[in-house]
Amino acid sequence: MAISAPVRPGGAGHPSGNDGGTRILGLACRECGAKYPTSPVHVCDRCFGPLEVQYDYDLIAERVSRESIARGPDNIWRYRDLLPLDGEGDVDWRVGWTPLVRATRLGKALGLSNLWIKNDAVNPTYSFKDRVVAVAAAKAREFGFDTFACASTGNLASAVAAAGVRLGLRTYVFLPADTEPEKFVNAQVYGANVIAVNGTYDDVNRLCSELADQKGWAFCNINVRPYYSEGSKTLAFEVAEQLGWEVPDHVVVPIASGAQLVKITKGFGELAQIGLTSGKLPRVSGAQASGCNPVANAYSRGWDAIKPVRRPDTIAKSLAIGNPADGYYVLKIVRETGGAIDEATDAEITHGVRLLAETEGIFAETAAGVTIAVLKKLAASGIVKRDERVVAYVTGNGLKTPQAVIPLLGQAPVIAPNLDAFDAYLTGQA
Ligand SMILES: Cc1ncc(COP(=O)(O)O)c(C=O)c1O
Ligand SMILES: [Zn+2]
Repeated sequence: MAISAPVRPGGAGHPSGNDGGTRILGLACRECGAKYPTSPVHVCDRCFGPLEVQYDYDLIAERVSRESIARGPDNIWRYRDLLPLDGEGDVDWRVGWTPLVRATRLGKALGLSNLWIKNDAVNPTYSFKDRVVAVAAAKAREFGFDTFACASTGNLASAVAAAGVRLGLRTYVFLPADTEPEKFVNAQVYGANVIAVNGTYDDVNRLCSELADQKGWAFCNINVRPYYSEGSKTLAFEVAEQLGWEVPDHVVVPIASGAQLVKITKGFGELAQIGLTSGKLPRVSGAQASGCNPVANAYSRGWDAIKPVRRPDTIAKSLAIGNPADGYYVLKIVRETGGAIDEATDAEITHGVRLLAETEGIFAETAAGVTIAVLKKLAASGIVKRDERVVAYVTGNGLKTPQAVIPLLGQAPVIAPNLDAFDAYLTGQA
């Protein structure tokens, strides 16, 4: 175990009752099953497999009902019993409970009759990363850390920076130097220590792994990764609850490290296990950019192992992880559930961003352009079926990556401030 830190006792009560964490059984290795106590570790000592939080689902099933969840706050903490905290999260911070939008116009454009968009572009720092960070930050506090850090492709940085402010944690965020300027601003504004690293995300991640060993800080996606990644389960919980506790037929999820796709799948599984849904599980499909496609490539070639992409080159920078930690598990889930993985070129990504904006009034970042472009392909090939209830996850805001669409839009006309000038403009348009 790299770091040992004091564990703080549980916090105040919750609508469904606070057990001080007895429902959390500890960590277990996803590969060999070795058990570990709840602590800031993420890799199995024996086999180097990833560690995952284990829960007592019988206890949770006894305690949690659709009604108890409905009495909870309008944010991810309504699902607190399925999250790995002993105490409470930051319940005043409105992370999650984002809109599930019926996408009739986009559906029509894609030939889908029952399409929904989970719009996670409207979280506090404008991406789904606020979910995972809310859990990781609270857990870092429970472990007694005073410094909270991350390796980021862009969105995680701002989520960590903002959560640090709220929980009184010092923050260090590390990003590839070529990350979009908007994402630097979005992190720096909160007063975080923002460090640009000359290298790819995988280089940044390697550096952060060394720092995590040396500095005794909580690194979101390294030593507290098992807790952090659990936050993405709420993307499944909310969708099911918003559909009246029904499970979609098919979900389409963007892939960087793959953690989000794995945890969305786990979330639907947990709902079935504790009897909140019928037991049905969705088909799960994944989306990558052609300029960083390690998982899509392995999928299309029928490989079980991932061949890393050394030099990602895509406008979907937030998805540019060349060596995805959860790639192997993503392949397994997608194959087992009968989904597929496809990829989108830069041109297709910008078209996807534009299509979503023009049909549904949702301006999303390039990662969502990847999702929409891949959804379009999967619909055209019949993998996503016309009448299936499909949920596409839109995970980041368009104001984070405006440069991607600016070339498509052209200049707005400039006119003099009078009616004649406007009429002349209209005539010119006709
Ligand atoms: C907007 C957005 N969507 C999706 C992802 C993919 O997340 P994961 O690394 O869990 O696959 C990221 C990762 O940074 C992201 O920023
Ligand atoms: Zn192991």
